[in-house]
Order: sequence, then structure tokens, then C-alpha cells
Amino acid sequence: MSAQKITIEPVTRIEGHAKVTIHLDDQGGVEQAYLHINEFRGFEKFCEGRMYFEMPMITPRICGICPVSHHLASAKACDVVAGAPPPRPASLLRELMHMGQVIQSHGMHFFELAGPDLLLGFDADPAVRNVVGLIQADADLAVKAVRLRKFGQEIIKTLGGRKVHPNFAVTGGVNKALHPAERDTILAGADDAIATLQAGLAIMKGWAEKNREDIEKFAVFPTGYFGLVTPEKGLELYDGNCRLIDAKGKFLAEFDGRRYLDYIAEHVEDWSYLKFPYYKKMGWPAGVYRVGPLGRLNVAEKIDTPLANEELKAFKQLKGGKPVENTLYYHYARLIEALFAAEHVKVLLDDPDILSRDILNTRREFKGEGVGVIEAPRGTLFHHYWANANGQLERVNLIVATGHNNWAMSQAVDSVAKTYIVAGKEITEGLLNRVEAAIRAYDPCLSC
Ligand code: NI
Repeated sequence: MSAQKITIEPVTRIEGHAKVTIHLDDQGGVEQAYLHINEFRGFEKFCEGRMYFEMPMITPRICGICPVSHHLASAKACDVVAGAPPPRPASLLRELMHMGQVIQSHGMHFFELAGPDLLLGFDADPAVRNVVGLIQADADLAVKAVRLRKFGQEIIKTLGGRKVHPNFAVTGGVNKALHPAERDTILAGADDAIATLQAGLAIMKGWAEKNREDIEKFAVFPTGYFGLVTPEKGLELYDGNCRLIDAKGKFLAEFDGRRYLDYIAEHVEDWSYLKFPYYKKMGWPAGVYRVGPLGRLNVAEKIDTPLANEELKAFKQLKGGKPVENTLYYHYARLIEALFAAEHVKVLLDDPDILSRDILNTRREFKGEGVGVIEAPRGTLFHHYWANANGQLERVNLIVATGHNNWAMSQAVDSVAKTYIVAGKEITEGLLNRVEAAIRAYDPCLSC
């Protein structure tokens, strides 16, 4: 038993509920710090018996934070269950919706959830270390951030009919074509979004310049990295193969996400309801890896849009081409991805197929089992369904981004607590905020 325990509950400016406990020894040093994720996760059982094709509408209810990611991963799994690959225009439209989600999620995270720590300081008075404080500090930037988020949300709404629980992707395609006027409206906002993200990147780099010392000691530790890539090893958020590298950057595996069970296993700890995925071949815990913006930029060798690709080159230079291990650089990576997403919106809207009405494959070649994989803003999301001959689900397996990063977040909490809480010195609110910031950097969604 440790001499004293500090509890942080709830952890603020994250999506969902989490608790941290910091166990101190007799001298007041940190013995061990834990992240507890105790939200009940019974969703997979709850889906059994439902028709597989209902899942794109049911699974967004898992979570009000990442409904679009679940909606699209689910539809991709249904395509495979039904043996109904979507026509190209439908895939482009789904990808467009996904870009909207990435922009609004990453934009909100940087400017509203992480921003108060970065722009106002970890030690700022908590009464102002929030969005209101940000608006007071830089009203112009706050307005731009709101517009950026709205740009992403409007893409989702245009395609899905509403901002939160979209009704758009169905087995074999999507249920609505894009109108030329809608395309033009979205296009008209893209450059503004790009400019705001570039402004965000300038802020991030300026902050990194001034806080290099903190960045280099704040939850820096080796892990593998995991994410989807294009056939040419470029950053991929919607489709593509899973790629895994080790802590030194050495290639470990590249595989079709449908075969994830051959590569990924899940470890269980009695102090957390959320499982801990790892790379099977290396075993637990040697095979732990990180997903999300840092994982993806570490596995990708390039980005297929020009502005984001230049940013990626600079990012890779931080460690001379080796993987970037710093937890605080998640924020930096997140902005580069959002910039890619905004540029990619233009690429998608310029594609002649984007206005096609060939959006649904109605043929079926029923397979009964299917996996859908997507890069949710927070990291790789797997939906795996097993249906009987009637199409009723017999088994559902979901691996969410927060699960993949579970070990890393626990490690980050422990590492930051041990680095900043020193025996014999006062434990200030700002120090405890750093422990929370270690979790915040991963942008976990604890609702799903
Ligand atoms: Ni979620």
C-alpha cells in the first residue's frame, strides 16, 4: 500500500469520463500513476440478433463524439458481409464525409481542448484556462476556429442530413448523390479552412520552439506505431493496408485490415474495463503500439497533398527521420493531418466522379462475415461482424482507437507524474493539469 493517493476525477477537456490515481511513497515521490477507464462497454453484446445492415445506423449511437467514424467503418464492414463493393463515386462521397469529420474533430481538439494548455500555459489559472480564456486572449483566432469546425460539420450535414448522427452510408454505397450547388458551397470554404490550419501550425511550431525542454521530457517513450497507408506508403485515412513499424522505425508488418486477428491480440488488466491491443508476434507488452495522428505520421512516408506533405517533411526532421516519440507532438501531427484533410476535400470535389449518380451497388453476393477499417480521427477503428444466413448478427467485435492507445495513455500518465511530481515539493494544480494533458494529447474518446 502506498502512503498517500491523489485522485483526479473527472479528467477534464477529454471526451468521456476517466479517472487518474497517483500513488505516492513515504517520501512523497510517485510510486505509480494509473489511468482508469471504467465506462461500461457492453455494446457488442447488445448488437447480437440485429440485422447486419442496421449497423451503420445503430453503431453511431455508441458515441456522440465519433458517430461518423462508426457509421463509415460499419458500412464498410456491411459491404463485405453482403459481398457488395460500393461504386467508386460512393467511396469518394464517404471519404468526403470522413474528411469533414477529421477537420471538425481535429480542429476542435487543437483550438478548444488542447489550446488552453498550449496558448495560455499549463500553469494558467484554471478559471481562465478554457475556451472562454482563449476567446479573451485571441478573439480573432477563436472566430477562425469556430469557422473551421463549422466547415467540417457542414460537409457532414450536406451529405448525412444532420451534423451528429448521419444517415448516409448504406450497404453497397450511399443513399444520396452530391448536388453541383452543394459541391460549390463546400469548395468555397476550403481555402479558408486551409488558411486557419496553417495559422494553427504556425502557433504550434512557435509554441514548440519555446517549450522544447518540456516537450523532450513530457511522456517520451518508445512504442511501435500503427496506421493505414496508401499503396505507395502515403498517409491514408479512409482505406488502404494496415502498416506497423517498431520503436526504431523498422518495418514490422503490412496487411489487409480484414486479417487483423492474425496480427493483433488484446491483453486484459483488472484495473481497467478497456482492453490493451498489441502486436501478436512480439507479445505483451513488447508489442504495444500507438495509433492516431502520431502513429499515422510515423508509419507514413509521405502525404499526397502538397502543403501537408511539406509539413510532414519538417515533422520527420524533428528526429532525423526516426519515429517521433513525444506525446506532445500529437498536437502537431493532428494539425498536419487536418491540413491534409482540408486539401483532400478539394481533390475529392474536383474528381469528375464526385457528382455521379452511380452511388449504390444493389447486387448481393452474401458472405456473412466482414471487417470494416477506417482511420477515425483518434486512430484505427475496426468493425467486425459475423451474420447468419438470415443476416442476423451472431457476433460483433469492435476495436476502437482509445483501446489501441490504452497502454500508451497509461504510460504517459505514469511518466508525467514521475517527471513532474517531486518528493518534498508542493503538488500544484498546474502539475496535476500536466498529468491530465498527457491523456488529452491522445484525444481519447472514452464514450466509445
Ligand atoms: Ni467515440
